[in-house]
Amino acid sequence: RAEADTAAAGTGINPAIRKEEAKVVDTVLAGELSKPLTPYCRCWRSGTFPLCDGSHVKHNKATGDNVGPLLVKK
Ligand code: FES
Repeated sequence: RAEADTAAAGTGINPAIRKEEAKVVDTVLAGELSKPLTPYCRCWRSGTFPLCDGSHVKHNKATGDNVGPLLVKK
């Protein structure tokens, strides 16, 4: 219900990433991760989405939010 209210108000969580898609979905094969620890964006502000580029720091400072990446271990 709250999700529907947010969508109706036009205040969705994603401000700009791949808005032409009906639903943004990414698949990662764990065996193909190149680094031992890979950060994935959960704030929807990364310039390298779906990977985290640290943009959550600026977002958190500007809004008082506390979001951070999902860390996937190889
Ligand atoms: Fe989005 Fe880091 S840039 S979680």
